[in-house]
Amino acid sequence: MEWEQCWLNYHKVDYKTSPAFQHIYHNSDDCRVLSAVQELKTGLSAMLDITPFSSNQQPERTQQSIQLVILTDQLDRYGLEGYEIALDGNNIKILAATGAGILYGSFSLLRGIAASVPLEQLCGIDQPSAPLRMLNHWDNLDGSIERGYAGNSFFFQDSNVLVNSRTRDYARLVSSIGIDAVVINNVNVVNDAISLVTPRYYDSLKKLSTTFEAYGIKLFLSLDFSAPIDLNALETADPFDEKVQSWWNRKMQEIFSAVPNLGGFLIKADSEGRPGPFSYGRTHADGANMLARAVAPFGGSIIWRCFVYDCQQDWRDKSSDRAKSGYDNFMPLDGQFLDNVALQIKNGPMDFQVREPVSPLLGAMQQTNQILEVQITQEYTGQQKHVCYLVPMWREILQFHTYCQANNDRVEDVISGKTYGNQLCGMAAVANTGNEPNWTGSDLAAANLYGYGRLSWNANLSSEQIASEWIQLTFSANPSVVRAISDILISSWPAYEKYTSPLGIGWMVNPGHHFGPNVDGYEYDRWGTYHRADFEAIGVDRTSGGTGYTRQYFSPNFETYDDVDTCPEELLLFFHRVNYHYILKSGKTLLQHIYDTHFEGVDDVRRMISQWNSIHGLIDETVFQRTLERLNFQLEHAMLWRDEINTYFYRKTGIRDKHGRTIVS
Ligand code: GCU
Repeated sequence: MEWEQCWLNYHKVDYKTSPAFQHIYHNSDDCRVLSAVQELKTGLSAMLDITPFSSNQQPERTQQSIQLVILTDQLDRYGLEGYEIALDGNNIKILAATGAGILYGSFSLLRGIAASVPLEQLCGIDQPSAPLRMLNHWDNLDGSIERGYAGNSFFFQDSNVLVNSRTRDYARLVSSIGIDAVVINNVNVVNDAISLVTPRYYDSLKKLSTTFEAYGIKLFLSLDFSAPIDLNALETADPFDEKVQSWWNRKMQEIFSAVPNLGGFLIKADSEGRPGPFSYGRTHADGANMLARAVAPFGGSIIWRCFVYDCQQDWRDKSSDRAKSGYDNFMPLDGQFLDNVALQIKNGPMDFQVREPVSPLLGAMQQTNQILEVQITQEYTGQQKHVCYLVPMWREILQFHTYCQANNDRVEDVISGKTYGNQLCGMAAVANTGNEPNWTGSDLAAANLYGYGRLSWNANLSSEQIASEWIQLTFSANPSVVRAISDILISSWPAYEKYTSPLGIGWMVNPGHHFGPNVDGYEYDRWGTYHRADFEAIGVDRTSGGTGYTRQYFSPNFETYDDVDTCPEELLLFFHRVNYHYILKSGKTLLQHIYDTHFEGVDDVRRMISQWNSIHGLIDETVFQRTLERLNFQLEHAMLWRDEINTYFYRKTGIRDKHGRTIVS
């Protein structure tokens, strides 16, 4: 086996089998139903030593079976992707209105068996919270991956699109956790990626998207806004130029007829050097709508990113604030985007830091489709060399009350369509995969990919529940294993936060590759990411008396953040400039808190290592050793973080640690 199966490992389980497992009946030959049949056969034979027989012929009344039944008239009951598992006499029924529902129901049955959940407890109707559950791969056509920490791309190599058995295993893996849309190429569309929308690539894209289709996944591509120029067709990409609109119309006609199962396009425009409508004095709505008109006849969608800010800032200008830019750029355009456009909004106003407030754009735009973007790849959270289980962070974001209206105002409500009744909404996440045999480089990082899928399907699942499911499916159902790995995962995000940048300040990383501590790395730079530490105080005043960022929130979030006394302490330095002697709720000074948390974070990693050691012999030895190696590296690196940060503040302030611990660099 060249690559591993992660949570589709299907270990042998001691499960009360039923004669129904011997026979799978399906009333439809829809490609997704056929995948479901295949998956059930694979899973049941591996876990239970049963080789089921499948047929699309109605079974005899006495024949017990798993019945996969599409009920096309039950769309209201099940939705486009929901399903029901029911026991009918001795039969196990998976009912849905679509093939996708049957597939998700089958994966759910397999997941339940793998985790030894009795059949009766698996019964019921299940539907996804977020309609769109996307993965964004930042894969380049030369095979490299932007911010990739798990090897090279399995989608591209030497400017070719790869379609092989790994593609299918990828589709199986992500479909099993509910992913229904995948963008295969980097949002930064350069070099050959510009030509993905030309006939050179249509055959391979067609093969890829057909593989995806059988697993309920729509193919999306990242698009170059300047394609008419970059493909040497026109001299402008101005959305108001009729030639440009007709060029796009023809282009979309061409690609949608050549590539089936294409969902649409993702666009990063006027951001970090990418081209966009600003060059022609047009707005983002003008740009997005031009593309939306071109894809509309084919049912396509345009996903337009809101990661737009000035990356040429002057650090001396204290009035400009990068955190404000998403809202400032997009809020005035609310109501101007066509129905098949969705705005993709990063979870925080900056850029995937270990702690940021929720972007004030989420929920604020009442007449615009919205997608929440999170980052599974651990760009700023340890690059898969550190364990950092991100599900608890995403849960907090989803549960956040925006106060955009009296009820149904949480981010989860906004992106599931409950708030404003829209259909085109959901979640997107930057994937953490690559062609390493274990897909994610770090074995424990696969928990984030798994967790993203499960959480975007059901925002009410707890982080612990997701962790325990993932551990059982991947490693073992042994309670000691589940407990130890779960404890490691659950403590990992807080630990990482403690030994890196404090209290929401973020950054403090080495510029460019973003790994390892460098307190002033981005200070005095053009990217607009400052902590402004001096010998007395640290933090950026983003209150109404400062940059005014807090005003972008609805009341009472605005007041809560605006007042230093009510601001949640984990975000204190994001919103306020605070003196090192400031007393926190714990009774400690700000500076002592910084010292203490940095020591604590390192101790947490030590504890994680001893927990990992406690399961030696209970899981696969290779996985055990390679994870231990990463954990040992994490400990060393956490100590480096601790020492760099503590030393920086000691040197700035001259104030010693109250406990007299050694502060060195
Ligand atoms: C971050 C990241 C870039 C990426 C960008 C984006 O800035 O460092 O590599 O291109 O986000 O989300 O577009």
